[in-house]
Amino acid sequence: MENFVAYNPTKLHFGKGVVNELGDAAESIGKKALVVYGKGSVLKNGSYNDTIRQLKDRGISIVEFNGIKPNPVVTDVDEAASIGKNGKVDMVVAIGGGSVIDSAKIIAICIADNVNGWDVMTGKHTPAGSKPLIAVLTLAATGTEMNPVAVLQNHDTDQKIGFRHEVMFPVHSFLDPKYTQSVPANYTAYGIVDLVAHALEAWFGEGEANLSDRFVIAIIREAIEIGPLLMEDLENYDYRARIMWAATNALNDTTMHGRVSGDWGVHGLGHTLSYLYDTAHGATLSIFFPAWMKRLVEKNPDRITQLGKSLFGVDSPEKTIAGFEDFFKKVGSPVRAAEAGITREQKGEILDLMSKQKVRGIHVDLDEQDREAIVELAL
Ligand code: NZQ
Ligand code: ZN
Repeated sequence: MENFVAYNPTKLHFGKGVVNELGDAAESIGKKALVVYGKGSVLKNGSYNDTIRQLKDRGISIVEFNGIKPNPVVTDVDEAASIGKNGKVDMVVAIGGGSVIDSAKIIAICIADNVNGWDVMTGKHTPAGSKPLIAVLTLAATGTEMNPVAVLQNHDTDQKIGFRHEVMFPVHSFLDPKYTQSVPANYTAYGIVDLVAHALEAWFGEGEANLSDRFVIAIIREAIEIGPLLMEDLENYDYRARIMWAATNALNDTTMHGRVSGDWGVHGLGHTLSYLYDTAHGATLSIFFPAWMKRLVEKNPDRITQLGKSLFGVDSPEKTIAGFEDFFKKVGSPVRAAEAGITREQKGEILDLMSKQKVRGIHVDLDEQDREAIVELAL
């Protein structure tokens, strides 16, 4: 087991009605908030009204930025940050899924440090601070509610990249599963895939960490058991709650302690599809994880089989990969690029972007031939 520091300062409020505690939290931070949200789902599921009422009841004044898109872009971050700077806000309140909360994390740094979003994302500017961020999560998937990571796109540089810094943990995150009951079937499935993929990125990372491995298995088991039930009963509060908590734990370092690193090669591969075709994040992962594992069979079959034994009771890498493909299909997420409308003619531009972005993986190093083989398997 490697040395590690366990640090997670996010105060997570989980369960029915927890947004009733948001007013107290915001009042202890300041008097003016920048409220950030996406294209309007939060106006329908009650999360926006509940949050605004909490802020107004405490006399907190509000400026707003809405319209954050899925696969968020840095130009929106800069626009929102300028509203926050001009409004001299004390905090940022994000209501939505990963795209909104990720954007808000960078917005909060840009306001505090008076810098551009891309300088933060690329590491050109090291954050000195951040406006406190309160998150109200409406979609279970990314784990952003309890981690210090943001992922953004830049259309000037052809990139979709992630950035992590300690100042980016939300100060408070409010997770009421009832707000996720309105998530449509496709994004519900993508969220389930995303949480499984996060557990897998940890599993295939470097270093031996037995307890962290057991957490990985427990999280994926929860998804395999509850995911299909949820897909049949999208408004079931208990299923929503269980998937939501699993997603948080899949990427809040629970699965990482004691390892050298995760892998993240599949995420890198997936980001190229999101960048080029706006493919939903989770869909890119159900397309690439089986293909990536098929390529990995030659290099490290034992690690795959170990997973299959624990999860599906099977004894070969091929059967393990088939187990994951079946699961992704069962929840309704694509396992081939064609199912997401991506054709063989696009293979060249996909590989070009992967090459330009130097998509490799931290532990399993991918070269040009690996990428070509994986894309071929994924088509
Ligand atoms: O824009 P609105 O109207 O809010 O609609 C959203 C969006 O269309 C909708 N939605 C959200 N909550 C809803 C809802 N619809 C109905 N009812 C609700 N309660 O769902 C759509 C997708 O939202 P989005 O925020 O894009 O999804 P997700 O949470 O999956 O976030 C994906 C983004 O997070 C990044 C991804 O790359 C992608 O950009 N990731 C962030 C990570 C992190 N910060 O740690 C790690 C992940 O690996 C991932 O890369
Ligand atoms: Zn992910």
